[in-house]
Amino acid sequence: MTTNNTQCVLASGNKGKLAELSNALADHHITLVAQSEFNVTEADETAVTFVENALIKARHASLATGLPALADDSGLVVPALNGAPGIYSARYAQSNHSGRKPTDLENINKLLESLAPLKNRAAYFACVLVYLRHANDPEPIIATGQWHGTVLDELNGDGGFGYDPVFYCPDSKLTAATMGKERKQQISHRAIALKKLHQQLINR
Ligand code: IMP
Repeated sequence: MTTNNTQCVLASGNKGKLAELSNALADHHITLVAQSEFNVTEADETAVTFVENALIKARHASLATGLPALADDSGLVVPALNGAPGIYSARYAQSNHSGRKPTDLENINKLLESLAPLKNRAAYFACVLVYLRHANDPEPIIATGQWHGTVLDELNGDGGFGYDPVFYCPDSKLTAATMGKERKQQISHRAIALKKLHQQLINR
């Protein structure tokens, strides 16, 4: 017997995310297609929580394509900075004068400056995944993951992306930028959220 695959649009243009999420959804006969393949523009992330922004992105992609949609919203949360950079992780160092998206290094430097006078350097990565069967789905599947560690006071490693070079994982005794892609894909915030999404898709 053959099982038909369901096409689902991924509300992101990030190729790394597409690969990671595709593997997990293949078990559920869901084929992920990046929204760029349908010329879907990026949604404005206007909300103040990860979950709301993920919902905005998934609904936008689903409305534009008529397909089920998956979105991911993530960032680094530092409790001593009242949760910053949080949902603004990608644009933490953005200046009011320029519309240019800051580089990862600019964001890291701002984080290190903000943390310099503080003792508590605890931090965690947060990830929220949202799956909508259609744009008006009243019961989205929502899966969350957190990855706890601390922020170093200097960069270590050049793997990964974003804040990886300063995020130290005490269990591995390595930064996210030195532990290697495979290890990170087993233990990260996104990996934890993905396992929960997988479970919820089984139970639905
Ligand atoms: P987005 O959800 O892809 O928009 O990611 C938001 C931002 O959070 C990224 O641009 C990074 O700055 C940060 N971020 C999210 N996940 C990670 C991670 O696994 N490592 C490092 N930085 C991350």
